[in-house]
Amino acid sequence: MRSDFALTKQLFDIPDGTIYLDGNSLGPPTKTASDQVSSLIEEKWAKLLIKSWNLDNWIDKPKSVGNRIAKVMGAKKNSVIVGDTLSIKTYQALYAAIKLQPERKIILSDSGNFPSDLYIAQGLIDALNLNYQLRTVKPEQIFESITSEVAILFLTEVDFRTGRKHDMIKLTKKAKEMGLITIWDLAHSIGVLPINIDKAEADFAVGCTYKYLNGGPGSPAFLYVAPKHLNNVDNIIKGWFGHTAPFSFNKAYQPASGINKMQIGTPPIIATAALEASLDILETVNIQDMREKSIELTELFIEETKRNCPMLKLISPICPYQRGAHLAFEFKEGYAVIQSLMEHNVIGDFRYPNLMRFGFNPLFICENNVLEASKILSKIMTSGEWNKNIFKIKSFVT
Ligand SMILES: Cc1ncc(COP(=O)(O)O)c(C=O)c1O
Repeated sequence: MRSDFALTKQLFDIPDGTIYLDGNSLGPPTKTASDQVSSLIEEKWAKLLIKSWNLDNWIDKPKSVGNRIAKVMGAKKNSVIVGDTLSIKTYQALYAAIKLQPERKIILSDSGNFPSDLYIAQGLIDALNLNYQLRTVKPEQIFESITSEVAILFLTEVDFRTGRKHDMIKLTKKAKEMGLITIWDLAHSIGVLPINIDKAEADFAVGCTYKYLNGGPGSPAFLYVAPKHLNNVDNIIKGWFGHTAPFSFNKAYQPASGINKMQIGTPPIIATAALEASLDILETVNIQDMREKSIELTELFIEETKRNCPMLKLISPICPYQRGAHLAFEFKEGYAVIQSLMEHNVIGDFRYPNLMRFGFNPLFICENNVLEASKILSKIMTSGEWNKNIFKIKSFVT
C-alpha cells in the first residue's frame, strides 16, 4: 500500500493557515466526522430510534471497532474492546493483572509515567488492601528493575512529557522470562508508531483514541487482552454489558465470553462514529510509512530549532528511534512562547513546569508546515515577542 500523505492532509478539517502541532494531545477532526455523526443521528437514531441497536449493529460497535484498532496495534481479532475512558480501562487491566499474578506484590512503573496511570494503580492498591506496592524507578532503570519479585510491569510506551520511547519488545521479553504480567499504555503511540503487540507477547494494553487516532474529545478508549488470558481475566467493574446475557436481567452476574466480558455499560455510539471516520483514513496508509515520515518531520524541526533557537533545550531523545512522534523543549517561559505561537496560528502545548510540546502526525503535517512553524518560532524567540504579559496568563488547560 502506498501512503499518500498529501491526500490524507486534505481529509482533515483544520482552519486554513493553522499549523496544528498538537495532534499528540487531541487529534483534529476529519472532514467526514461531522457527516458520519450527522448521518448516524439523522438516518439511524432519528429514524430507527432504539431499533438501531440491532438494525445498525450498535450493540457490536465495541467489538467491531475494537477489531479495527486491533489491526493498528498488531493484535489478533477479538482481543480488543472499545469503550469507557483510558483511566477506566487501565483500572480494569491492572485488576485483571493482579488476579493473574497473586503471589507477588509489586507493580513496577517508571517515574515519568502519566500521573493518572500512577494514581489509578495506587488507588486500586489502596482499595484492594492486599499489601501491593507501586514501585516507580527512572525510565532508564526499568530493565534492571524487572526481577522475579515483581508482579506487574505497567508502562506507557511513549512518555507524555519527553517523548522517550521504551523498547516494548525487549522489556516485555525480560518481563516474561521473570514471570511478570505486562500492561502497556499506548496513548502516545497508537496510530503513529508501528506496534506489534502480538509479537511483543504483552498481556494487556490500553490506550485512548483522541490523540493520534483523531477520534475527538472524549472518544472511547480501548483495552487489549492477550487471547491466552481471555478465559481467565476478571473484570473489576461488573456492569451489565460485561454480562453474558445483559437482556436476561439475571440477578447473578455471569461474565460474557471472550473480550466482551471487559465491557461495562452502554457504549458511546455517537463518539464512536467520529472515531470510525478517522480510522477510515488511517487504514489507507502504512504505519511504517507514518513512522518514517514522522521521523523526517521531527528531525527537520529539531534541526531548524537548533539553528535558530539555541535557547530552547531539546529534552526528547536525540535518536529518533528512541522517541515517539512528539518533541519537547525546555524553556522557563515555555507557556508564554506557546501562547505567542498560537497568536500566529501555530498550535503546540505546554506541560508544567517548563516544557513546550510539538506533535508531528504525518496524516496532516507536512515539511512546509514544519518549516513555517520553525520560522515563526524563531521570529518569536529572537524578537522577544513571547515576553508580553498577555501571554503569561495561565488558562486551566495548558
Ligand atoms: C499516557 C496516558 N495515560 C492515561 C491518560 C488518561 O486518559 P483519560 O483521561 O482518557 O482517561 C492519558 C491522558 O492524556 C495519557 O496521556
